[in-house]
Formats: sequence, C-alpha cells, structure tokens
Amino acid sequence: MSERTAEEFLTLQEIVAAARANLAPGPWGYLIGAAETETTMRRNRLALDSIAFRPRVLRDVSAVDSKATFLGREVRLPVLVAPVGGMESFVPDGAAAAARGAAHFGIPMMLSSVCQPGLEATAAAADSLRVFQLYVRGDDAWVDDWGRRAREHGFRAFCFTVDTASYSRRERDLVGRFVKPWRQNAAAGAKYQAALSWDQVKRFKDRHDLPVILKGIATAEDAEIAVRHGIEVIYVSNHGGRQLDHGRGSAAILPEVLAAVGGRAEVWVDGGFMRGSDVVKAIALGARCVGLGRLACLGLAAAGVPGLVRALELLEEEVRICLALLGVTSFAELTPAHVAPAPPVVEPSALSAFPLLGEGLAPPA
Ligand SMILES: Cc1cc2nc3c(=O)[nH]c(=O)nc-3n(C[C@H](O)[C@H](O)[C@H](O)COP(=O)(O)O)c2cc1C
Repeated sequence: MSERTAEEFLTLQEIVAAARANLAPGPWGYLIGAAETETTMRRNRLALDSIAFRPRVLRDVSAVDSKATFLGREVRLPVLVAPVGGMESFVPDGAAAAARGAAHFGIPMMLSSVCQPGLEATAAAADSLRVFQLYVRGDDAWVDDWGRRAREHGFRAFCFTVDTASYSRRERDLVGRFVKPWRQNAAAGAKYQAALSWDQVKRFKDRHDLPVILKGIATAEDAEIAVRHGIEVIYVSNHGGRQLDHGRGSAAILPEVLAAVGGRAEVWVDGGFMRGSDVVKAIALGARCVGLGRLACLGLAAAGVPGLVRALELLEEEVRICLALLGVTSFAELTPAHVAPAPPVVEPSALSAFPLLGEGLAPPA
C-alpha cells in the first residue's frame, strides 16, 4: 500500500503512482486498459494534446472563480465522476466511496448500473448530486423500473450509454484472465442493449419525468437526431477508448457535435481528461461538463474517499492557474478564441499526461 496520506500528495502524478502501488495487476489493467490496439484511448490524449491555448493578458485575474452549474445547480468545477462499473475493484465501498468524495468536494457523480453497492445504497451513502446510467439488460418494464427507482432515490437525470451495443475485447483483461464479477453473467440480457434504438429512447422519455442523457455520441449526425428527440444532454464519449477501437479522440469530435447541437441541448464530454488544462480546453470549445473516468478511480485507488477529494483539489488548482493565465476570471469568460490547433509533443498513452512517471510506474519512495 502507498504510505502517503491523501493530504501529502502534491501532484496528480503522485496519486497515479500511489494507485499503481495499491492495485493488483488485474484491477490495474482493467482500469487503465482499452479495446484491442488501444488506439481510440491514445487518440483521446492526442486530441487534447493537439489543442494549444491563446492566452490574453493584463485583465485583472486577482479573483478567479472556477465554479460552474450542473443541470441548474452550482458545482465547484464543471466536472463529474463518470459512470464506472466495478468501482469496487479499486476501493472497497465502490460507488458509495465515489459518491462521498464527489459530495464532499462539491461535484456530481454518475452511477453505473453495474457498480456496487447499487442504486439505493449509493444514494444513501452521501447527499450527492447524482445522475444514473443504465446498461439495458431487460425489456421495457425492466427499464421502467430503473427509471422509477432512480427518480425515487434522488437521481436528477437518466443516462443511456449508447456506445456499447457489443462488449469489446479488452485485451489486458483477457491476457491477465481478469474476470470482472459483473461480467460473469454478461451474456444474460446483452441482447437488449444490442437492440436499443431511438424508438426506445423516445419511449422512455415520454414516460419518465427525468432529463435524458445519451452517453457515447460521436458524430454530428447522431447529435442532430438526439436533439430532434428532445434529449437534454448529449454526452460526447468513446467510453475512454474501451469500446470501438480506431475511433476519434473525444476532443476532436466535440466541435462538430457542438456545431450540430447549436445550443439546443447541453453537451458534455469525456475521454482522456487528466489535467486542469484539459478541462479548460473542453469548456473553451463549448462543452458544459467534463467526465472523469480513470482519474476519479485513480484517486479512489490511491487513498479512498480522501484520495478522490485530493485529486479533485489538485485538478481545481490546475484549473484556476490555467484560467488566470488565460486572462479570464471564470469559465463563463472562456471562448473558442482561447484555443487553437497545435502539434502534440508527447506520444499519447493512458498516462502520458503524467510525464514524470511513464508506464512503468515506480511506487512513491
Ligand atoms: C474501469 C472503467 C469502467 C467503466 N464502466 C462504465 C460503465 O459502467 N458505464 C459507462 O457508461 N461507462 C463506463 N466507463 C467509461 C467512463 O464512463 C468514461 O466514458 C471514460 O472512462 C472516460 O475516459 P477516461 O477514463 O479517460 O476519463 C468505464 C470506464 C472505466 C475506466
């Protein structure tokens, strides 16, 4: 186990190193890995690394405010803990720990339907700002039951992940013979997710009084269809590169989706966001919120709830420095004119945002 307490982490790099030291090879490969050649995952970093800033100066940035709003509520940063199945592989309480950390820091979380301890217990674990994500494993009545329970237990929106019509080949898991507990009966019900269509999304929307999020939109065409269906949140994602291999990086997809949506829905994004500057880039382009998948789990694996909180504090510090150096005092002042295309300078990989570490991470001394 890492010897450091959460407050002793001075950089996100140290948090990653501590997580590496704490996790057995199976859970580590599950967390860091992606589909097949892992090209999509690398492109997430490549797309972010291919954006440079255009800073403005002499603008009195003595008071920077990095707060934002999430579905109409004030939050401390425009980020959410992305839905992650099997968080219990990284921290004993799984999603309950994520809910406590997110609530303590002041950001929302999205609970995955394949994460322990489940919908009711996660809702009870903390007074979190929470939304729910479902993998469809049953018929309409089964889906409606999740919608009803989510609403009853204070989840403020309902998400269908739409990039998972087939479960991908995660070769780190296959090579390591790492069998996720919730995948043991995975075949059961998988056909329902494969058969999911726009008609079913519409049926759910018409029936439930909850904003709907579609996670895994990766083209302007589908964003347009989503808007026509009255979807409230279009969540640009390639599942952290864990589903379709050889997809585009999320930050590269974002501009065409934003253009297609034209302000008619909120646009969120995830995929490779590891640093405060990454978050600032997405918001400058026009996204409203950034999902943190691996980074949130690295914080939890490093030191449980305090580890997640510390990761978010460090991210916040990076954000505030970045905003000040761009000459803005809040996210609201950011515009696409604050970013420009630029050649990347590092070979992208899951952890390439942490150049002091490299993939062969040494645990902290
Ligand atoms: C270990 C792990 C499990 C995941 N499980 C889910 C899930 O159950 N549902 C889902 O919609 N996305 C899932 N995702 C994808 C994340 O929600 C998110 O899209 C992705 O992690 C973002 O990329 P990042 O990890 O580079 O931040 C998972 C990601 C990871 C790393």
